[in-house]
Formats: sequence, C-alpha cells, structure tokens
Amino acid sequence: MTEGTAILGIETSCDETAASVVEWRDGAPRVRSSVVSTQHELHRRYAGVVPELASRAHLERIVPAVREALRAADCPRERIAAVAVGNRPGLIGSLLVGNAAAKAYAWSLGVPVIGIDHVAAHLAAGLIDAPPAAFPALGLVVSGGHTHLFAMEGPLRMRLLGRTIDDAIGEAFDKAATVLDLGYPGGPLLDARSDSGDPGAVRFPIPRLTARSVRGAGDAADPDARTLDFSFSGMKTALLYAVRGVPAVPGRPAPTPPVPLSGQRVSDLCASFQSAAVGHVLDVLERAIEADAAGSPRTLLVGGGVSANRHLRARLHAFGTRHSIEVRLPSLAYCLDNAAMIAALAHWRHAEGSHDALTLAPQPHSTLGRIAAG
Ligand code: KG4
Ligand code: ZN
Repeated sequence: MTEGTAILGIETSCDETAASVVEWRDGAPRVRSSVVSTQHELHRRYAGVVPELASRAHLERIVPAVREALRAADCPRERIAAVAVGNRPGLIGSLLVGNAAAKAYAWSLGVPVIGIDHVAAHLAAGLIDAPPAAFPALGLVVSGGHTHLFAMEGPLRMRLLGRTIDDAIGEAFDKAATVLDLGYPGGPLLDARSDSGDPGAVRFPIPRLTARSVRGAGDAADPDARTLDFSFSGMKTALLYAVRGVPAVPGRPAPTPPVPLSGQRVSDLCASFQSAAVGHVLDVLERAIEADAAGSPRTLLVGGGVSANRHLRARLHAFGTRHSIEVRLPSLAYCLDNAAMIAALAHWRHAEGSHDALTLAPQPHSTLGRIAAG
C-alpha cells in the first residue's frame, strides 16, 4: 500500500447514488469524502425499489455526486490512482449508470478502473479508519439483498459458508414493517419501535436448516447435519398470521382470531420479530464456531444495512466477547450502501496491481462463490 494513494469510488447498485474519495494513510483506508444521495422518497409510495425510477435518478445524480465528492475531498486530481465501481450484484439498469460513469472518469483522469463486488465491499466497511484486522475471519453480510456468511483469509479472499435460501434479513425486516404499517424503508422503523415492545411476547419459529432441508438428501454425508444457511420466510409468514389471522382450512376447526392490533401489540410484534431474526443469525454464527468452519477466526467482519440494527450490534459484541473474537462493525455511516466501502476495498486490489479493462461490464449477480476475490 502506498501512503497517500487516493481512490475515487462510485456506487449505484440499488437506490443510493454514491461517490467517495478514500485515501490510504497510516495503515488504513481513510475517508476524505463520502456523498450518498438516497432515493427513498421516490420509492416510498411503492414500498419497494422500482428499477426504472432508480436508474433514471442515478443518471441525474451521478455527476453532481462525483463532483461533490471530489470537491469535499480537497485532494489534487493527480493523487487519484484509480476509479473503483460497484459493478455487481445489483439492478442492471442502476449498475450500468455507475459503471459507465466510472469508466468515463477513469479514462479522462488517465487511471485504471476497478470493478468491485458490492457484497465483498460491505465487509470492507469495518476496515475503514481502523487498525488492520486479523485473519482468518468470519464475514457476515446482512443487507436488504443478501444474508451471506464467509470464511475469509483476507479482504479479497473469501469462501462462501452459507446464505439465505429465501428472503434476505433486511428484506424480511422491510416486509414485516409493511405488514405492521410502519412505513418505508422498514428496518430502521422496526428497530426503533422495538424499544417499547416485549421481545418475549410472541414466539416466532427459528429455523435450524439441515443439508436435507436446503438441498434435499442428495449425496450429503449426513443429510440431517445442520448447515450454515439462513431462512427468514417462515418467521415472516408467522408474523403475517399473527396480524391477519391464520387462514381457515375447510374441514379443520376454525383458527383462533388474531389478537387485536393495539399500539402495544405492534411494539411487541416488532420486538419479538427482531429478536427472532437476530437470534437466528446468532444461532448460525455459534454453529460456525462449533463446526470450526472458518479455522479459528480471530475477527468477525460484519456489513450491510442491517448491521445498523442496535439489537444485532449488541448481540454480536456479546458473541465476540464469548469467543474472544474481535467484532468489526462498520460505523453507522458505512453500514448502508455507500461508495466509501467500494473505494476502501479497491485499495487492496490496487496494491496487487489488479485492475480491469475499460470493457468492464456490470453483472446482476455476485460472483462470490466458493473462493472469490472482490
Ligand atoms: O446494505 P443496504 O443499504 O442495501 C443492500 O445492499 O441491500 O441495506 C438496506 C437494508 C434495508 O432492508 C433496511 O431496512 C435495512 O438494511 N436496515 C435495517 C436497519 N437499518 C437499515 N434493518 C434493521 N435495523 C436497522 N436499524
Ligand atoms: Zn448493500
């Protein structure tokens, strides 16, 4: 790593248009500027991201965002050594805007472009403005689109241990908040509302996935052995039933009607749902330690929008203490989608001399499979 090297990062994979300048200084990526323009107001009435609206908004916002990031960084153009862009996974129309912009800026600055996997970048958010992390590490991504667990040998080297087989945890929070009529995006609203609820009021099912339940018995040595996968759709359906009642089945006794939805009941459902979703994540992490899936990890790197959840943060810190593992949670500014994490991870690529050609294309899916580089 070269002291003083700066990288311009661009992120447009979903509904945030973001640009950032991150410099390498004193052994860590340091953020000189981070601009995030969220589109929540555009998508709120649809209670979800509308891809066409998102890409049109990126087109309008990307140049002002980059201009503002460069101005706020107060960094001479000659110090910008590369332009990094989140080029996978995401909404293809949104990715195209950031990808085209990054290549245009790279070409005009005369520097290389670096395509970064957005999921891997979430894990680099905990490395920003912090001393170097010790590896091997466990990597946990909890976002609106992903719930992935990795064994990591470095910021760029990771092996997928498990992933959600249905909804991502953030998606489950958002859908739960919609069912409870809390607003959009629901995760932070559900987090806040949980403060006034009783987490033990309603019992939601916590899945314990086995090889058989994830992939069928297949050729698994022990089809009933637990896997490190996640599932959130069962607890989401249980919440729907708790609110609207269990559907009647002909020939069966009529189900008991749901408890009326008072203000206190909504808070109790929020706290109980949050406790179940977070409990499931912790249960899988405990299982990963028990199975020694990541070779005595010294660090747990966490990233993604749901890493802003206060209950999850508290439980992860307790997990770290219990197992003598350092827990690296991003500061709140870098939990949700941002371009600083893209530029931060790109510093490791740049140091390896690993750049992309100007033919770099966006891809809707993550390439993080068994072993991968960001
Ligand atoms: O990482 P992110 O910005 O976008 C994706 O890559 O998906 O994550 C957004 C997700 C949303 O589902 C949002 O509701 C959730 O993160 N989220 C939270 C909290 N803050 C954001 N979920 C639970 N508690 C929070 N405090
Ligand atoms: Zn994200």
